[in-house]
Amino acid sequence: MLTETLPVSSRNLVSVPTARRALKILMVAGARPNFMKVAPLLRAARMDSSSRFDCRLVHTGQHYDQAMSDIFFSELGLPRPDINLEVGSGSHAVQTAKVMERFDHVCEEEQPEWVVVVGDVNSTVACALVCAKRNIKLAHVEAGLRSFDRSMPEEINRIVTDAVADLLLTPSEDADENLRREGIAPQKIRLVGNVMIDSIVDNLERARERNILQTLGVEERRFVYVTLHRPSNVDHAESLRGIMAHLTELSTRLPVVFPIHPRTRKMLAESSVGNLGYSGLRLIEPIGYHDSLCLTEQARFVLTDSGGLQEESTFFRTPCLTLRPNTERPITVQIGSNRLTSLPQLQRDIEQRLQGPERIGEIPPLWDGRAAGRVLEAIAATSAPE
Ligand code: UD1
Repeated sequence: MLTETLPVSSRNLVSVPTARRALKILMVAGARPNFMKVAPLLRAARMDSSSRFDCRLVHTGQHYDQAMSDIFFSELGLPRPDINLEVGSGSHAVQTAKVMERFDHVCEEEQPEWVVVVGDVNSTVACALVCAKRNIKLAHVEAGLRSFDRSMPEEINRIVTDAVADLLLTPSEDADENLRREGIAPQKIRLVGNVMIDSIVDNLERARERNILQTLGVEERRFVYVTLHRPSNVDHAESLRGIMAHLTELSTRLPVVFPIHPRTRKMLAESSVGNLGYSGLRLIEPIGYHDSLCLTEQARFVLTDSGGLQEESTFFRTPCLTLRPNTERPITVQIGSNRLTSLPQLQRDIEQRLQGPERIGEIPPLWDGRAAGRVLEAIAATSAPE
């Protein structure tokens, strides 16, 4: 507890306790996978019974569409951003540089004591670098994940963000080990669990009320939910054509629901991929958070290259195939429902999923819906006066 000395003119020259000033925090969100991580953090901060946190939400504008951004704000009950940097799309360097330049001005104006960044997108690393240059304390939520594949833009973002963060908040024990191996001081690392799960728990009821299955004409456990948007899968016409051939074949056996990310849509248009009008293949516009949770829970299996969906399917124990040679979320493979696959093995792995159980794996420790509270306690404890 802070103390304050009364003016000398006061009759009683004593120290009296006074309420501690709230910590001024900027929380940063930039792209679709950030919004469900920031929502529980903001809610926990606003509901703090001791009002210890004065949080402002900064949206970098990396994602800006109704389908990629706005719908998540309304579904997750996120407040309007206090500040929107409106950086939009661009090459990685341009996007990162624009966020840095604009966020630097925000820090100058706002003088935050802490900045909280989440995940591994370009906005995450850009704001982290600004904090390092300005000597502002930085907390990274979802620290320590590593795919050990530096050809992934996100891996670079993760390594750089963790190298400059003051507080590294990890979702699982493997992340702590990665950080210790990189020489990060152990006192900076806190195992808090997975904030994504907080959002699932908060939104489960509303997700279960969605009628997307009826709208799409599919039945529980009788369809496959697909999301693919990684440059390594969709940016090369040959790989994209191979994937679409597998999906078309699969869709003769079970309906395939595939909401198309803008990057994938662009590449499909450019790569003249045969007839996509086959009725079992439901190529739809990007969907919101609740519909996505609903499809993940109800699918026969999920085929994805998204980090978030690997975790969400693990929570629901829905079998998942991840079309990547590696994952920064190995716990989803070790104790969860996930399995890595590749184009040459896809047919065999799809077959195995179709023959396999409808639910598999377990929910990892601390994926319990209470991670956001632990994040804030860690920040408060790190800020406590000596
Ligand atoms: C970004 C993240 C990735 C994350 C993904 C989730 C990085 C390096 N990548 O990739 O980790 O998994 O978000 O979606 O930060 N576009 C729109 N509307 C939007 C935003 C983008 O149409 O609101 C289009 C643009 O044409 C843009 C393309 O999508 O060029 C890709 O967007 P970008 O933010 O560059 O990367 P993502 O592939 O979305």
